[in-house]
Amino acid sequence: MSGSGSISRRHIFKASAGAAVLVGTGTAGASAAPAASAASPAVARPPRDPETERRVRALLAKMTVEEKFGQLQQLTWHADTGPGDGQNKECAELAAKGLLGSVLNLTGAKKCNDLQRAAVERSRLAIPLLFGQDVIHGYLTTFPIPLAQGSSFDPEVVASDAETSAREAASQGIHWTFAPMADVSREPRWGRVAEGSGEDPYLTAQLTAAKVRGYQGADYGATDRLAACAKHFVGYGFPEGGRDYNTADVSERRLRDVCLPPFKAAVDAGVATVMASFNTVNGVPAHANRHTLHDILHEEFGFDGFVVGDYTGVQELIAHGIAADGADAARLALGAGVDMEMVSTTYAQHGKRLLAAGKISRERLDDAVARVLRVKFRAGLFAHPYADEAAEITEPSAAARSAARTAAARSMVLLRNEKKTLPLSAKAGSLAVVGPLGDDTKELHGTWASIGAALFPAVSVLEGIKQAAPSATVRFARGCAVEGDDTGSFDEAVAAARAADAVVVVVGEKAAQSGEAAARSDITLPGVQAQLVAEVAATGTPVAVVVLSGRPLVLTGIADEADAILQAWHPGIEGGHAVADVLFGKVNPGGKLPATFPRSAGQLPLYYAHENTGRPFDPENKYTSKYLDIPHTPLYPFGHGLSYTTFTVSGLKLSAEVLRAKSVADGGATVRATVQVENTGASAGDEVVQLYLRDKVASVVQPVRRLVGFSRVHLKPGERRRVGFTLGRQELGFHTNDLRGEFLVEPGEFEIYAGNSSDAALKAGFTLT
Ligand code: NOJ
Repeated sequence: MSGSGSISRRHIFKASAGAAVLVGTGTAGASAAPAASAASPAVARPPRDPETERRVRALLAKMTVEEKFGQLQQLTWHADTGPGDGQNKECAELAAKGLLGSVLNLTGAKKCNDLQRAAVERSRLAIPLLFGQDVIHGYLTTFPIPLAQGSSFDPEVVASDAETSAREAASQGIHWTFAPMADVSREPRWGRVAEGSGEDPYLTAQLTAAKVRGYQGADYGATDRLAACAKHFVGYGFPEGGRDYNTADVSERRLRDVCLPPFKAAVDAGVATVMASFNTVNGVPAHANRHTLHDILHEEFGFDGFVVGDYTGVQELIAHGIAADGADAARLALGAGVDMEMVSTTYAQHGKRLLAAGKISRERLDDAVARVLRVKFRAGLFAHPYADEAAEITEPSAAARSAARTAAARSMVLLRNEKKTLPLSAKAGSLAVVGPLGDDTKELHGTWASIGAALFPAVSVLEGIKQAAPSATVRFARGCAVEGDDTGSFDEAVAAARAADAVVVVVGEKAAQSGEAAARSDITLPGVQAQLVAEVAATGTPVAVVVLSGRPLVLTGIADEADAILQAWHPGIEGGHAVADVLFGKVNPGGKLPATFPRSAGQLPLYYAHENTGRPFDPENKYTSKYLDIPHTPLYPFGHGLSYTTFTVSGLKLSAEVLRAKSVADGGATVRATVQVENTGASAGDEVVQLYLRDKVASVVQPVRRLVGFSRVHLKPGERRRVGFTLGRQELGFHTNDLRGEFLVEPGEFEIYAGNSSDAALKAGFTLT
């Protein structure tokens, strides 16, 4: 079977021109370079279970061609997450005939069990259905959106969402979540930035792996776990102009150094499945892209789960202009490596004929079916196909709510805090809460909230503040709507602000203004909200702005007017409590930006790990790379986030000044960077120590710096700690544009920067010889 974990991977070493050390992870037989003996870095993936493999083969041997294609078909119960109609009638019919592999968008233990009975008790081979669902940031208990979780720089936040979600969703009959989204994106106009961990491949990889482990645990066959799905493979986060589903033209090295690391991390964490993306990758749609799906995912990464297409993504190969018709689409997608087709039905309709005509190989068909069956065995479906209806969880537990509240508070980023406006005193006499999202209980759930959002209102910021400051008089005035140009209620808001000791202005986006098919060309605050902030600020009452959004917004105007700005994202069901926890200092904010906040959408794309041009920015020199009409910097850089206390990061030390490049490339030698972080202020708090690396001269231009380590630490006042990071092959090397995945660790000088944002200035260096 191709693409198995047993595929032999080999390292290639070659001393090429310029004494570069070349370490390639090439597909066996695909490279002309001489083989070396260096061992591959260990992959911490559970080994294959021989008994499962035997059962997969035995089942495969009994299946008709129709039954095989049936396993490769997923249909949707209802059509809430994509175009077209629900397919519930077809689901029931095909399940009973053994011609359906999976169903999405069906929930509830009883409903799932009823349909499962058709497959297990009526079909010839009794192969259970796999029930999938978009459980993205909570099921009954909505956690903060994934981008917010990215701000936590805390894998435990991510894991707590995944574990809670898995428990709740699995109890309702769901086996499989279409999460985590592993797409790195530097495009805040794209609505789906909300679903990822931001702009950085290292951060995204760490959090993606944590999420996979959180959903799946050690065994996703356990009844309180879900099989995970790393999506969208690949390049989806780089759509032209930020318009969803759009073209991604990424060089091979960007693909490998930026887009792929989170997927590799997911595969190494044992992710059960991967979803293909809607976009083209360098001219070839991801659903037909044999290079990314077969060569990289199957062969190089050794992924042995299955690839599901995205919603009608196989059929969309026709609109892309790469397939002439449905049969052609099926041939291309299956041939490239899409194992299961979602919603469209080209495999089921044309597969048998394509097979007979030799346009699809039997080997590839069996490989796809074996992948699906393997996941079904691993998910425990044959052992326990039915959900325990008596054990169904139907509402958020106190523990789940508490986890969501902690996660939300840890995900908030204090962008600005002039005159120590925050924290507010819980003993304040009078407070005003102003703004269209101040009393909201719906939008706080954010995009892709699951069924809990419709059933359980979120705690509003107003409610959170009232509960946190019970002795204060709290007056609320909406001021305006999120959208539209009506300023008629501004006066009321201004009056409320005037009468208060401090005012909290709650502004931002609605949930539906980010997420799928929710690109915005203008990413300032919608409607007249920025004007509202300005009018309220003009009263002179201290103003703290709370921004609830699904993307980095352009906050340029309000950044000067507001005394404090708290970026709270869409914080989920306990959002209001979590905002209040931070506003009143019960929680000292420790989140950091996982994505750059631009001054203007005209600066996009804007990200910290950019390359230098031959004419790097120089304000004194006209002929350098910049805009004439805007400062060169972002409004807030990646990694930025304030605290109510102060920290210093000092004493950066490296364990070596000189290392052998070959030893690093072989996976042996590493350099250890340690740095001291100290809480120099008066309250306990969290700091995220960040380590960045610059490879000064390389055969392919490298980013000016890139994140290679982070650690969120909690320190009491006066407490200090040394934090260490190990840098090896992975951190010091890079890919070239070679299609076989050439990976280089080159001799030369490296700089290390340590600090608490991507502007970190503390510096040390070492050399690879
Ligand atoms: C389309 C989205 O792109 C994908 O992320 C989602 O999982 C599927 N629809 C299923 O709802």
